[in-house]
Amino acid sequence: MSNAPHFSIDVDTFWNDPYPHLRQMRADAPIAYVPQLSATVFTRRDDIFTCEKNVAVFSSDQPGGLMNVLMGQNLMRKDGDEHLAERRQYYPAVSARAVRSVWQAQFEDHAKGLLDALEPKGSADLVEQYAMPLSAQSLKSLTGLTNMRFEDMDAWSQAMIDGISNYHGDAETEQRCHKATAGIDAAIDDMLPVVRKRPDTSLLSVMLEAGMPIDNIRANIKLTISGGQNEPRDAIAGCIWALLSHPEQLEQVRRGAAGWGQAFDEYCRWISPIGMSPRRVAMHHEFEGVQFEPDDRVFFMFGSANRDEAYFDDPDAFRITRDTQKSIPFGAGPHFCAGAAASRALVADVAVPRLFERLGDLRLDDSSAVKIGGWAFRGLLNLPANWTRS
Ligand code: HEM
Repeated sequence: MSNAPHFSIDVDTFWNDPYPHLRQMRADAPIAYVPQLSATVFTRRDDIFTCEKNVAVFSSDQPGGLMNVLMGQNLMRKDGDEHLAERRQYYPAVSARAVRSVWQAQFEDHAKGLLDALEPKGSADLVEQYAMPLSAQSLKSLTGLTNMRFEDMDAWSQAMIDGISNYHGDAETEQRCHKATAGIDAAIDDMLPVVRKRPDTSLLSVMLEAGMPIDNIRANIKLTISGGQNEPRDAIAGCIWALLSHPEQLEQVRRGAAGWGQAFDEYCRWISPIGMSPRRVAMHHEFEGVQFEPDDRVFFMFGSANRDEAYFDDPDAFRITRDTQKSIPFGAGPHFCAGAAASRALVADVAVPRLFERLGDLRLDDSSAVKIGGWAFRGLLNLPANWTRS
């Protein structure tokens, strides 16, 4: 175990609002061992920015880790050349060019279909009836699993996320995760002959055409579903909530003094959908006076890095005109999010602007009724809102 100074947290408080604890850690013990998490956590932006690139020491390869056991070893759990080779086979399906030329138009269609159904209602929970289905429909397109129901895409994503953080070994959680991965495997089996006959830009087809072994394709599709459903969902709902809760800033966007992209960047800095990423220490190492031993568990706290006072003044405030270039909500190393271009197009170019264009006088039902939670993954649990029916 590392010899980092200990810092204790109250786990429930941390789930409800991790930022006060993280601020304290940045000030008193920026690299601290947190007994309640059984991990040494990094809270300062520069330490994470430096160490995430040192893959020889801070490894993503976690043999026996829950993600490998339950979902198969995917590209995010590999290091070095092996990782880069697989990423090169994966990336063309989600590159900025593929997003511009193929996916953006499909995101627009999905958003229009949902807004056509939503507009006449006059009120709704926008997590359940907009952000979640739009993220799931878009992920069906991106993965190529268009034969899945969007409800399954969301439920199976959650079941895998619960499964890979099921450190206390709850049997029901594990069963639900196995059911989800079996469902995804069946959907892949169903679509393989289709994309073999007519290759397209989807992840399934692109990885197949690149000659990736089928077990790796299955593992990377499961990674995409586990890491590509909740995050865009939380960014869509979060951006809408943040702008409705800061009407003067929504007005700035509406009159063109700021862009939807700035609102997206600032939201992902302010409340990073992925607040933490784990690493396994691969060899003895010393960093900033802390000694690390092989197999130590390390957490890079992106949610803290993005509120680091060294880079962001008044970091707890949502301010869309601030410079967010130093924030790292998509990571800061070789594992930088492969879906970043797709997420930006989905959330900042389609989901949020189309909603505010169609529901002109959108407002929150009651801001105190909005619930938010989580530290490893953080997002809204609900977003009750209303507007004048057309
Ligand atoms: C707002 C939405 C999203 C956020 C904030 C986000 C954030 C992240 C972060 C922080 C990482 C790095 C993890 C690390 O360093 O260990 C990551 C990796 C990854 N993300 Fe995303 N993500 C989002 C959406 C997506 C989507 C929609 C997809 C798929 C289409 C996706 C696919 C991936 C993949 C494949 C990796 C692993 C890349 C590698 O290991 O080389 N993400 N994401």
